Amino acid sequence: MTTQDPIYKTDALIAEDIDAYLETHQHKTMLRFITCGSVDDGKSTLIGRLLYDSKMIFEDQLAALESDSKRVGTQGQEIDFALLVDGLAAEREQGITIDVAYRFFATEKRKFIVADTPGHEQYTRNMVTGASTADLAVILIDARKGVLTQTRRHSYLVQLIGIRHIVLAVNKMDLVDYDQAKFDQIVAEYREFATSIGIQDFTAIPISGFKGDNITAHSENMPWYTGTALLPHLEAVEVDATTDQAKPFRMPVQWVNRPNLDFRGFSGLVASGTVKPGDQVRVLPSGKTSTVSRVVTMDGDRDLAVSGEAITLTLTDEIDCSRGQVIVAAQSPLEVADQFESTLVWMDEAEMVPGRAYWLKVGTQTVSATVHAPKYEVNVNTREHLATKTLDLNAIGVANITTDREIPFAPYAENRDLGGFILIDKITNHTVAAGMIHFALRRAQNIHWQATDIGRDHHAGMKNQKPAVLWLTGLSGSGKSTIGNIVERKLARMNRHTFLLDGDNVRHGLNKDLGFTEADRVENIRRVGEVAKLMTDAGLIVITAFISPFRSERDMVRGMMQPGEFVEVFIDTPLEVAEGRDVKGLYAKARSGQLKNFTGIDSPYEEPASPELRIDTTQMTVEEAADLIIARLIP
Ligand code: ADX
Repeated sequence: MTTQDPIYKTDALIAEDIDAYLETHQHKTMLRFITCGSVDDGKSTLIGRLLYDSKMIFEDQLAALESDSKRVGTQGQEIDFALLVDGLAAEREQGITIDVAYRFFATEKRKFIVADTPGHEQYTRNMVTGASTADLAVILIDARKGVLTQTRRHSYLVQLIGIRHIVLAVNKMDLVDYDQAKFDQIVAEYREFATSIGIQDFTAIPISGFKGDNITAHSENMPWYTGTALLPHLEAVEVDATTDQAKPFRMPVQWVNRPNLDFRGFSGLVASGTVKPGDQVRVLPSGKTSTVSRVVTMDGDRDLAVSGEAITLTLTDEIDCSRGQVIVAAQSPLEVADQFESTLVWMDEAEMVPGRAYWLKVGTQTVSATVHAPKYEVNVNTREHLATKTLDLNAIGVANITTDREIPFAPYAENRDLGGFILIDKITNHTVAAGMIHFALRRAQNIHWQATDIGRDHHAGMKNQKPAVLWLTGLSGSGKSTIGNIVERKLARMNRHTFLLDGDNVRHGLNKDLGFTEADRVENIRRVGEVAKLMTDAGLIVITAFISPFRSERDMVRGMMQPGEFVEVFIDTPLEVAEGRDVKGLYAKARSGQLKNFTGIDSPYEEPASPELRIDTTQMTVEEAADLIIARLIP
């Protein structure tokens, strides 16, 4: 590349005074936006036009585009506009499987990051990712086609994600003879739809990405249009920092800064509002209050910090505050709750499993959360509510969520940082969903923990033992029930107070409403876990014999118990051996297709990765196995 290339022809300023150039560049504001519309609407052409006309994009990005398309400009040669557009389109197609293509460009006034996402329905996930950080959305319409299903769908998603600035770019005006009536008709139709989904305002601009009309400057082909061209509009639009400053102060704590004993600061990004020394603040969820003594930034102490800034606060009191907690204005605290209704956009190949616990990341905090069966799924094209038991890849639905502890939050509509979250699968580590909190469920606020006088220590003390859960897991026919039974007998002989929970038995009573789908098995184990927990509170040694095929739920139960109380025992019997025994004749049924979802045949068993104990039943008798388990419990 040489500086002759028009595409990144640099400002005269750079040549003259590089320092002055860098200085102005650094202080330019940044606008992040997303372009929506199907391929035919001319998205690549428009983005190409913006990059081309702004004459300034970052060199490494250009290099990447060039090597991708293999055709875009070579050394010293003028880059052809059409070839640039081809390059962008080619890169986006490749990017589909990855995520979102981000393009950077800048003008004299502003820096831009545009998220370029594929338009088709199956890429909802990509669009949500691209939109989640955007300040503005450009919704493209082909002037010949008008408002399409895609337009409605993308607008709905943009509204859902809470993007407050919308540009309706009516493209290909050159192909409709720059006809004002056509433009007005499309805008009117869009306005009707937009209002129906709660979009209060948008800016409509008639353009031609291909011809360059109303892109950088007002087009003479459309004298009837009196508004600004697209790029000047993007340069001028107010990003939300100022409106966020008017809101109450909120700062999720990213880390606690303690370089020495004299300094203890809480660092984070101001999510909204302003803060200054002397302000009264409250730490949530604990609710403790204090006063700000210093506001420290990279450039030293400050009299005032505003939303969007990274700061460190010191407080006048030594109060508890750690990563994930939120420091807020004392007079307007956030709500704190552990049950929420929320919208979920499912982003994983593996469908949602109601009842399963996932990691939930909100603000700077990660907690464990259980997702309940969806109330409904939304058909994004028609906005109809559909009944469903789960959410698949790209589905959007509404469901309740329970977290394992109370978290400070704001409804997503009020604050994207404190109301937006992601869910992560605990085993695969995939981000499985993006979510938006609607509100806390009131039932969470009305049920309090009742303090009782006789606690778990008292119960255990009376029995003269330490409570524990011996969790036997393994295939059907692996020997769990047989071994569990011997363990209980031996413990009874040792005067221990025990209780054996066995899969087949519990499924006759407490869990008789459950079958063997993934969701039902999850619920089966959740209930057994809760019962086992109550029994340990009563001071008992609990032995359980359930297939419990999923790591997630076994880990969930482990998390419910006191540290060290949960003993995972893998009854390791190879499938051939269990099937060979086939005591209940179920394997034969499963093989012949009479029994569906049978573990080991057409339903998975996830072996424990690091159980406390592994029993190889091909190497020892059941008596020996029971002795090993007891030795682990009572060394
Ligand atoms: S779990 O998967 O939810 O943990 P659980 O241990 O309660 O299963 O029940 C397993 C027992 O149910 C098996 O030992 C077997 O007797 C019986 N059963 C009936 N249908 C199935 C099936 N499809 N898969 C596994 N076990 C089944």
